Amino acid sequence: MSQDEQKRSAGRAAMRYVEDGMIVGVGTGSTVAHFIDALAERKHCIEGAVSSSEQSTRLLKERDIPVLDLNAAGELALYVDGADECDDRKYLIKGGGGALTREKIIAAASKTFLCIIDPAKRVSTLGRFPLPIEVIPMARSQVARAIVKIGGQPVWRDGVVTDNGNWILDVHGLRIADPVGLERDLNQIAGVVTVGLFAQRPADIVLIGEQVMP
Ligand code: A5P
Repeated sequence: MSQDEQKRSAGRAAMRYVEDGMIVGVGTGSTVAHFIDALAERKHCIEGAVSSSEQSTRLLKERDIPVLDLNAAGELALYVDGADECDDRKYLIKGGGGALTREKIIAAASKTFLCIIDPAKRVSTLGRFPLPIEVIPMARSQVARAIVKIGGQPVWRDGVVTDNGNWILDVHGLRIADPVGLERDLNQIAGVVTVGLFAQRPADIVLIGEQVMP
């Protein structure tokens, strides 16, 4: 099966967790795009979706799935999103698509975080995929210097502006032995908006294709 077919399997398998009347948190990316296609087939059974990006909002609206505001929706029962890397503790690197801040907000607001990935995302140690960090533009160089001090090699994702008007540094060269500690430490750097490590709030369930990860 190709990587895209695996993503499609995961996106469709996620529908097993969608219940009638739900407001579903919806992530961002190519795997989630398959989930949105599957969700559209049951759009009359759900109340709506809370979107993590302008990209997903557009896909949802094109399929006439109501997009709701998180402040009005309150706590969500289910959040479905992809990842760039996933280890065996269900800790994740996310943000390859630049939507990490709203993704982290929705993950925090959701009772169950269902992560849908293809097998290539599964790793034993996080860090081969460059860790995305969203920064306030005026703090880009300062945050980059702080990251160099802890052994990372930050690369500015030049030309990319996030949905929140910020910039992204992709940090290469980190072998992340302690994801919870690193997430906490990076969050302390002035100018950091969001770190693409999802360890303090990991996934609850991971689907690799249509299989549940043990
Ligand atoms: C978006 O910012 C990311 O967190 C995505 O969840 C991640 O990049 C997965 O993308 P794909 O499903 O396209 O591989």
